[in-house]
Amino acid sequence: MTETPYRITLIEGDGIGHEVVPAARRVLEATGLPFVFVEAEAGWETFQKYGTSVPEATVEKILATDATLFGAATSPTKKVPGFFGAIRYLRRRLDLYANVRPAKYHPVPGAVPGTDLVVVRENTEGLYVEQERLYARGKVAIADRVITYEASYRIAEYALRLAERRRGQLALVHKANVLPLSDGLFLEAARDAAKRHPTVEVREVIVDACAMRLVREPQKFDVLVMENLFGDILSDLTAGLVGGLGIAPSGNIGDRAAIFEPVHGSAPDIAGKWIANPTATILSAAMMLDHLGEREVARKIEAAVDKVLAEGPRTPDLGGRATTEEFTDAVIQALQNNPEF
Ligand code: NAI
Ligand code: MG
Repeated sequence: MTETPYRITLIEGDGIGHEVVPAARRVLEATGLPFVFVEAEAGWETFQKYGTSVPEATVEKILATDATLFGAATSPTKKVPGFFGAIRYLRRRLDLYANVRPAKYHPVPGAVPGTDLVVVRENTEGLYVEQERLYARGKVAIADRVITYEASYRIAEYALRLAERRRGQLALVHKANVLPLSDGLFLEAARDAAKRHPTVEVREVIVDACAMRLVREPQKFDVLVMENLFGDILSDLTAGLVGGLGIAPSGNIGDRAAIFEPVHGSAPDIAGKWIANPTATILSAAMMLDHLGEREVARKIEAAVDKVLAEGPRTPDLGGRATTEEFTDAVIQALQNNPEF
């Protein structure tokens, strides 16, 4: 009997994307699961080649496959006519409403032991509707922050389901004490969604207090859900709790498509040297497998990564001297030597 292969779109993007995505692909291939990989283009190099950072062919491939693994895309520092950021465009175009950012302890310098939480960030509205205006001859600026019942309910529902699969705890993060209409609406929708998930223990936490508690006792959090800007900020904080950019994975999940990517960018300062740490991309690939229902294999990839992070070889960002390839070889070896595998 042949199993139906998973169809995966791979987008390297720019810079170290060309190094970390092939590394993650090798780890996926080493799991023994059947995959068909489809390569697609997006980002700054793609813009220079075709005049668009996301060609239609890329959107079609993403929609036609089961999931997508994205490396990183460069954004030019100066405004370039016609250019737009690839990942932000894809989030909007494909309605990838849930930005999912786990922060889990891995044995790297500076990580807080016992941390195992997930920030679920609403990805489509809030201040990111990008509606700003100037008044009073440029001395007053106003930005719109859009909160809808529907988007709040949908993100809360996603977070509640995730909490059910984890330790059953959800923090609703808000600022309804100052913003009773907008954050009040977010809370109302989330409370309504929570009524249908009685096994999840829900608590409401004000965002500033939440930031402090995350720093002091991150072990007390399981799943956290919040609107766009709060999620942008707190998910960088939680990435910092577990060792920073080199290892933080993420997912952008919608009903029609899901794109997994490392939190870091294209790292032009080290691109082409083959010393990038592929951990964040390998962990993003593990998240992708989890999303596809391959929870056991995802867990084994994580265990293999942890073994190599603990015992070495490590890449230079973590104080070692290994290349991207050497680190990846070690992960594959750890995966294949796992007696449960
Ligand atoms: P960055 O994340 O690319 O790099 C920040 C620092 O971390 C650099 O010193 C880099 O060498 C290091 N670093 C990042 N990932 C690493 C890895 N896997 N292994 C070892 N070291 C790593 O952020 P930066 O420099 O602010 O942005 C560079 C470019 O990436 C910009 O064009 C920016 O717009 C883009 N970017 C793209 C993102 C995406 O595609 N989702 C996210 C963030 C930035
Ligand atoms: Mg950010």
